Amino acid sequence: MSNKIEIKELYFDYTGKKKTYSALENINLEIKEGEFICILGSSGCGKSTLLSILNGLNKAKSGKILIDGKEISGPGVNRATVFQNYSLFPWKTVKGNVLFGAKQSANRKNYTKEERNKKVIGYIERVGLLNSLDKYPFELSGGMQQRVAIARALALEADILLLDEPFSAIDPKLRLELQELVSRLSKEHNKTVVFITHDIDEAILLADRIVVMEPKRIKEVLSVNLSYPRLRDELVGRKDYELLHKKLISLFYENISNDIDSEVIL
Ligand SMILES: Nc1ncnc2c1ncn2[C@@H]1O[C@H](COP(=O)(O)OP(=O)(O)OP(=O)(O)O)[C@@H](O)[C@H]1O
Ligand SMILES: [Mg+2]
Repeated sequence: MSNKIEIKELYFDYTGKKKTYSALENINLEIKEGEFICILGSSGCGKSTLLSILNGLNKAKSGKILIDGKEISGPGVNRATVFQNYSLFPWKTVKGNVLFGAKQSANRKNYTKEERNKKVIGYIERVGLLNSLDKYPFELSGGMQQRVAIARALALEADILLLDEPFSAIDPKLRLELQELVSRLSKEHNKTVVFITHDIDEAILLADRIVVMEPKRIKEVLSVNLSYPRLRDELVGRKDYELLHKKLISLFYENISNDIDSEVIL
């Protein structure tokens, strides 16, 4: 399978008036077409920054990102992003927000208005919000807003889905349903997905490979060789699952304890 995304020697810093803070250093990663990558790492290690460069909102200070072999220079309709903070249009209803996604789709010309409407309603149904079609974001809970953001991203029908902790504000039952939905849709439509999470179980449930980050850098990349669909109840107790889980816990908590150590001033 060919590489969909190539990240080469990426460096990024935030430059303020007085200080420069390097947020990412020497990031290298190749992502295959149709691959589901989870990025796991503690708070502040640079996950959202990396996603913002993949999305095109921020530009690499050095190094580059290639998509389908071409260097990116800004946002594009081949990438749909679900941000950590929902970022819906406050003046549009649920339906209006998702319709906006559909109108940006590179495939938009292939559909009649009726077909497009049907698709939009279908995506809203899949995230369980049919009863809230005409509500505005301020009338929705955080979890509901995030579901609208997911429906809007799906409506864009982009090859690449970039998701920044999309389920962190969603209750456990719905979270499981949405995890299954994103996993199934990404496989059915051969999407290439970069999904950020703090949650080890979520990463194992979804990912083909898990990229564990430490502050500014990639610490380790692990393959998840468990067949799909993965059902949480069936995974628990399996030896391969338990081993991977243990390994991730040690990698993840080692980072967290290092972070805490570096912040403690005696
Ligand atoms: N606009 C900004 N200006 C200056 N520094 C920033 C800015 N945005 C992020 N940072 C810093 O860059 C580092 C990485 O931030 P980032 O938001 O990428 O972390 P993260 O891994 O997504 O964390 P979280 O899990 O809490 O969302 C942090 O130390 C943060 O303080
Ligand atoms: Mg973040």
